[in-house]
Amino acid sequence: MTRATQIHPHALSVAREARATQKGQRPCCVWLTGLSGAGKSTLANALDLALHDAGVHSFLLDGDNVRRGLCNDLDMSAEGRRENIRRIAEVARLMADAGLVVIVSAISPFRAERDAARALFSAEEFFGVYVSTPFEVCAQRDPKGLYQAALEGRIKHFTGLDSPYEAPLDADLELDTSSLDLDEASRRLLHQVLLRCRPDAGH
Ligand code: ADX
Repeated sequence: MTRATQIHPHALSVAREARATQKGQRPCCVWLTGLSGAGKSTLANALDLALHDAGVHSFLLDGDNVRRGLCNDLDMSAEGRRENIRRIAEVARLMADAGLVVIVSAISPFRAERDAARALFSAEEFFGVYVSTPFEVCAQRDPKGLYQAALEGRIKHFTGLDSPYEAPLDADLELDTSSLDLDEASRRLLHQVLLRCRPDAGH
């Protein structure tokens, strides 16, 4: 929905396919969802590095990073999270239009916004990954001390405590980093992504 009136989309002379062909890859969006501390950013970063090493032009949109710039006006309320995810999805779509393999790492707790993100891409272009590490394990890891703070009431609307996490029903891949080590989880993820962005390379 556009609020402004008198908007006339401008046709681009360089086709989306031409940009992808120039890069020798198929653009896609790899979307990692899961609780804070589940391992999303670690997996996303490992994937980004492995793709870079394989000569694939990728980019990582990480919730924590995006919230320092593009989304620094948003809080962690349900409304703030919805808008955060909407903006990330739109940026991911633009990057895919530019021919890139875009990796998104964000809690993205609500099904409706994840579905809306998926709907911006064709079926082959969106790859949804549920990092399903259980709450107890994330709370135990607590790498940023946020679970402790939330349990003591110092942080409100904390995902999994007083803000809901709606687990995906349609994930293309599920990775639980409490039962898989990082190398194995990364290997599985890389394999699936290469099949999509370099389908002819024989992986
Ligand atoms: S999302 O819900 O809008 O998708 P996003 O992934 O961008 O969240 O950012 C979450 C990051 O903010 C977490 O990695 C965590 O470090 C931090 N954070 C701060 N407050 C909260 C909170 N109330 N719930 C969850 N994460 C929080």
